[in-house]
Amino acid sequence: MAIRPARVSDYRNAVALYQLLNPKAKCSVGSFRSFLDRRNQYVFLAEDETGQVLGLIEWVVWPEVPAFPYPVCFIQNVIVCPDHRRQGVGTALLNHTSKWAQERGIRILHAQTDKEGNEAGQSFYSRNGFEAKSLGMYRML
Ligand SMILES: CC(C)(COP(=O)(O)OP(=O)(O)OC[C@H]1O[C@@H](n2cnc3c(N)ncnc32)[C@H](O)[C@@H]1OP(=O)(O)O)[C@@H](O)C(=O)NCCC(=O)NCCS
Repeated sequence: MAIRPARVSDYRNAVALYQLLNPKAKCSVGSFRSFLDRRNQYVFLAEDETGQVLGLIEWVVWPEVPAFPYPVCFIQNVIVCPDHRRQGVGTALLNHTSKWAQERGIRILHAQTDKEGNEAGQSFYSRNGFEAKSLGMYRML
């Protein structure tokens, strides 16, 4: 397995992965390009030796936030193709991000997953050393 930065030409694979989280997810080549070009935002893909995409990880770096004395890496999504789950792909993506962040002086990884209905997501993060420290809340507007 190899992990590499996503390219604009990966957008179909990326949308297919995002649709696993939200069936209404959609984006054009142009909007995926803008997304990848956004400052401090990163998308990496895992692929097998044939080039088949197995999963993705997406994160944002907050370089300076008043609440923390160091940059923070916020993992927004980790998504693995259903046929390749429970084979270490998600963990490999997370380890890649962790190493990437450490090399840049980042000391904290944040992640979030649904409180209910995503036992896999919760178990995945706790298995990888994440602790539940905060309560995420939202309000529809
Ligand atoms: C969560 C997800 C990324 C895990 O990816 P994965 O490649 O299957 O994870 P790994 O194989 O590295 O598994 C590592 C650990 O996570 C936990 N885990 C993964 N899938 C699980 C499941 N279905 N049920 C319970 N625990 C699970 C286990 O502790 C597992 O270790 P084990 O296999 O030794 O028991 C994957 O299930 C997925 O894409 N889910 C949909 C998207 C999502 O909810 N992402 C997380 C929130 S953004």
